[in-house]
Amino acid sequence: MEFASVSVRCSMSIAMFVLMMSASLEAMAEAGTTSSASLAKVKRERVTCNSRRSRCFMRYVTCPVECPQVKPKDPKAKACYLDCYTPKCEAVCRKRKPNCSGMGAACYDPRFVGGDNIVFYFHGRSEEHYALVSDTDLQVNARFIGLRPVGRSRDFTWIQALGLLFGPHTFTLEAARAETWSDDIDRLRFSYDGTSVTLPESPDSEWSSSGDEIKLERTASKNSVTLIVQEALELYVSVVPITEEDDRIHSYGIPRNDSFAHLEVQFRFFGLSPRVDGVLGRTYRADFENPAKPGVEMAVVGGEDRYRTSSLLSSDCAACVFAPGDDKEVSFLRQYAMLSCTSGVADGIGMVCRK
Ligand SMILES: *[C@@H]1O[C@H](CO)[C@@H](O)[C@H](O)[C@H]1NC(C)=O
Ligand SMILES: *[C@@H]1O[C@H](CO)[C@@H](O)[C@H](O)[C@H]1NC(C)=O
Repeated sequence: MEFASVSVRCSMSIAMFVLMMSASLEAMAEAGTTSSASLAKVKRERVTCNSRRSRCFMRYVTCPVECPQVKPKDPKAKACYLDCYTPKCEAVCRKRKPNCSGMGAACYDPRFVGGDNIVFYFHGRSEEHYALVSDTDLQVNARFIGLRPVGRSRDFTWIQALGLLFGPHTFTLEAARAETWSDDIDRLRFSYDGTSVTLPESPDSEWSSSGDEIKLERTASKNSVTLIVQEALELYVSVVPITEEDDRIHSYGIPRNDSFAHLEVQFRFFGLSPRVDGVLGRTYRADFENPAKPGVEMAVVGGEDRYRTSSLLSSDCAACVFAPGDDKEVSFLRQYAMLSCTSGVADGIGMVCRK
């Protein structure tokens, strides 16, 4: 029976890519040749997924001509990407930075693009924490920073830090305060299970936890990374300041002694359960009806009281469903989700099948 091979665990650990690089490609890369003339000659890499659960397991897929490399030297170039968790086993081109207009984005004063592709704002308050995603085995909180100009009725807010809980582990990712912004200074700070993580400032540096539950890769030498949580999510992150232009356009009233360095993020989820909640998470539920209607400009959604957590790494919000160690339920949900996706049964659970 076909489902027998589709099982519960869907290891992301070593999953991502096996690269087949020729010696000539490496030589070219070292020489830093990225002009379009030489790009035409860049060998198209081949990618695969190392997870037995993936449809792409050990199937070698050649990268598209438009994006021959998984990690192009040119930070603006699109990269070759193979999604191990969709039934289609096809390499596509994508930027390695968050796309603030793409599904799962949270950028600016936070402006979200939901799993239903609807754009909405969630304001919250400065110096508070909110659950962006709360699922049975994954919680992602955000810390907001911001300010309230005189005469305004609410805070202007931005996401300064993310706190992740998955199984028994925690991970934090923060934008360090910058009085004045400089592109030459890296402002990213990380911690895993309470210990800070150092990631050298080079465009290809990587770090993995000892059990490979989590992997961090720089996508530029400073201020941009991809974070991969095994079986759960992939997160593209950049740190950016409030520019003088933003400040002027929106009349934020940013003080001279703080650039309000904050995060731009884009999530991709691999196995959300039907119970998923959170400011962003709930928009991935098949039965979710977004109070923000498509086409409505500046649609603001509420729920501050339902999603507020007491710290960056707690899951105590009113709507939170995080319950690690509840293995039976989790594995059931995962299996169910995988089955409904890979068997093409539409929508019952659905999330996994969405892009
Ligand atoms: C970002 O996402 C939007 C919506 O999916 C898409 O139209 C746009 O082309 C993407 N931008 C880039 C640079 O990939
Ligand atoms: C930054 O400037 C504001 C006034 O513009 C002041 O209230 C605040 O204390 C200053 N903060 C720091 C950290 O110097």
